[in-house]
Amino acid sequence: MEIHILSIFPEMFASVLDESILGRAQSRRLLQVYTHNLRDFTQDRHRVTDDMPYGGGPGMVMKPEPIVAGIRAVQERFGPSYVVLLSPQGNVLNQERVKHFARMERLLLICGRYSGVDARVTHYIDAELSIGDYVLTGGEIPAMVLVDTVARMIPEVIGDAQSAEEDSLFRGLLQGPVYTRPVEFETLCVPDVLRSGNHAAVAKWRRQHALLTTWQRRPELLQAASLSVEDRAMVNEFERGEFPEVRAGSGTKGDGG
Ligand SMILES: C[S@@+](CC[C@H](N)C(=O)[O-])C[C@H]1O[C@@H](n2cnc3c(N)ncnc32)[C@H](O)[C@@H]1O
Repeated sequence: MEIHILSIFPEMFASVLDESILGRAQSRRLLQVYTHNLRDFTQDRHRVTDDMPYGGGPGMVMKPEPIVAGIRAVQERFGPSYVVLLSPQGNVLNQERVKHFARMERLLLICGRYSGVDARVTHYIDAELSIGDYVLTGGEIPAMVLVDTVARMIPEVIGDAQSAEEDSLFRGLLQGPVYTRPVEFETLCVPDVLRSGNHAAVAKWRRQHALLTTWQRRPELLQAASLSVEDRAMVNEFERGEFPEVRAGSGTKGDGG
């Protein structure tokens, strides 16, 4: 998969994209990320990419010409791409949308700054994407979020080290608790079943606890998740307070809000 990023701060990306799993994915040519300096597509001596807003008000607006010139130049050189503008006004990213973006052969991400991007740019893009209902200073961090999460969907990128399918939300549920050594930490013990070596029992425990965590923290996700008859029976047990952890009132901690 190829991802191009158009930004006035292309140097921001190296530390995130060249390390760890993303770095290895690039060395193995599973993922190719190209950053492009938006200023390279300006026509003036000062390489200006922003200007004052029509109608007045604070803040500058990113000019359309360098962005559209950048889109055209990248597409002419590398081929057609699916163009995404990072913007708080876009559809909010979720795992389903990540899967959609991961199916694209070539993505071109546009990072805004200042008070945003001239509205006419929306005629040259395929999607407008927000990473959540809050405002960041620029589109670079949202672009990094998208690259990271899309890369996890490419077969072989995370390999045996982890499994994207076990991740929270991959199948519409949150992941349940995970443990490592030591077996006992300050009186807190790893559940016996996880050390039993019984793969079927471990898989059942994980499914139950994914359901439980989702039911406790994000119950609305259960409405959309595809649940088996056994899953539904388990959720009914939670609701009746019959499941041991629910009966004991051992809630998992939520968002701290
Ligand atoms: C300071 S923001 C502009 C906010 C703008 N005044 C508004 O209210 O929509 C500058 C740039 O950061 C990026 N950005 C900020 N928050 C974002 C979010 N939640 N998701 C995606 N991009 C975001 C966009 O590229 C945006 O053009």
